[in-house]
Amino acid sequence: MTKCRILVLNGPNLGHLGQRQPEIYGSLGMEALATLVRETLGEVASRIELSTFQANGEGQLIDRLEQAWREKQDGVASNAGAYTHTSLALADCLAWIGIPCVEVHLSNIFARTDQPLRRQSLIGQSSIGVIAGFGMMSYVLAVSALWQHWLKKNI
Ligand code: DQA
Repeated sequence: MTKCRILVLNGPNLGHLGQRQPEIYGSLGMEALATLVRETLGEVASRIELSTFQANGEGQLIDRLEQAWREKQDGVASNAGAYTHTSLALADCLAWIGIPCVEVHLSNIFARTDQPLRRQSLIGQSSIGVIAGFGMMSYVLAVSALWQHWLKKNI
């Protein structure tokens, strides 16, 4: 049976999830993702092939997205970290590779009113949707959204 292949892409400062400011970003690390996806999506999880990648550099993230295009990945769940707010280069990459992308944030960037720049996203313009504020569950919800999106095109 064909699998829906999804890349979970994490940008700068997301390599120490669970340890980095847990009061903002939660206490779970990326190693919890596969279990959470199985618990939440049940049997559907066996139809999804997840790959994860984290890098602190913008160029490395773009290189991985270009690789995802060559691999013909079906979806990208992208938490670009601070590059969300600044990187036209990442937005450009997502636009040309054309892989459906869901923008992910652990924190609710729209509620971070003390830092208005965090409420702006350049990645959003190249995404099919945005999920923010649910900690590690934001990734699970993004995977679920990408699965639904893929399913509509593959029935
Ligand atoms: C983040 C929010 C960004 O503003 C911040 O720079 C991050 C994490 C989030 O997941 O909530 O590194 O993307």
